[in-house]
Amino acid sequence: MRSIIDIQDLTIEEIQALIMTACDIIRDPNKYSSACRGKKLATLFFEPSTRTRLSFEAAMYELGGYVLSVSSGSSSSAAKGESVADTARVISCYADIIAMRHPKEGAAYVAAQNATVPIINAGDGGHSHPTQTLADLLTIHLEKGGFGDLTVGLCGDLKFGRTVHSLIKAMSRYPGVKFVLISPEELKLPSYIKKDVLKKNDVPYEQTTDLAEAIPQLDILYMTRVQKERFFNEEDYLRLKDSYILDPKKLEAAKKDLCIMHPLPRVNEISVAVDRDPRACYFKQVLYGKYIRMALILMLLEEAGACV
Ligand code: CP
Repeated sequence: MRSIIDIQDLTIEEIQALIMTACDIIRDPNKYSSACRGKKLATLFFEPSTRTRLSFEAAMYELGGYVLSVSSGSSSSAAKGESVADTARVISCYADIIAMRHPKEGAAYVAAQNATVPIINAGDGGHSHPTQTLADLLTIHLEKGGFGDLTVGLCGDLKFGRTVHSLIKAMSRYPGVKFVLISPEELKLPSYIKKDVLKKNDVPYEQTTDLAEAIPQLDILYMTRVQKERFFNEEDYLRLKDSYILDPKKLEAAKKDLCIMHPLPRVNEISVAVDRDPRACYFKQVLYGKYIRMALILMLLEEAGACV
């Protein structure tokens, strides 16, 4: 049974096919309105979410299917001590496909080992968030026309930011991509990603603490939130939370066709005045996330022989 735990579970060709399906859905949504008729998606979210859970659910409804939802650990038998493995086996009895978010790294992998239906990792701790990356890639495809020859600035919490980790893994596979890693010293990209992804694939990158200095060279600026929930002490969080605030003044030095992205939710790291800038793409990212999740649900259910 095929599950998607990490963006590297998808080949470049499969990602391209998903993007093409998502673009076709955008062009002609009616063509897909019964594609998953009678099928059920379970969303199991043991960590808060607005976009990922609701976009998965909207995606399944727009494919003509049904949704079963657990929106918090405290409202399920996880609160009584049920394991992720048992939960996955049990929900497999009710649903044809499961999207799961969990605060522990590796939880989606454990679920996939025990489920009898496809598992989609909707975020596991600080590890991976492959469907956010698919939304990011669809956004970059639509805004930039492709993935090669781009200088991508990643700014904020690069240590715990699972969306950043997944995006680096995905974009390192395309030629001509360079990364500019912008973070405080304490929130630098983990060395295992530098070693196993960037250095292993000879992907050029530079590290800096200075957003203003980095901005002029960027084609994409991917801002991220400093995540309170990943810190062990509040003092460190308070010291680092406003390290970077993107505002119209800083953007004066940016390219005219810069694509400003953010997985959201934002707190302070992008000033609301930036929302009016035509280069702001983060709300488009939200919408594209629904279409690419429709494409992924379709692909996995078709592979499992469960879809018309
Ligand atoms: N981008 C993202 O994962 O948002 P949510 O936490 O709201 O799902």
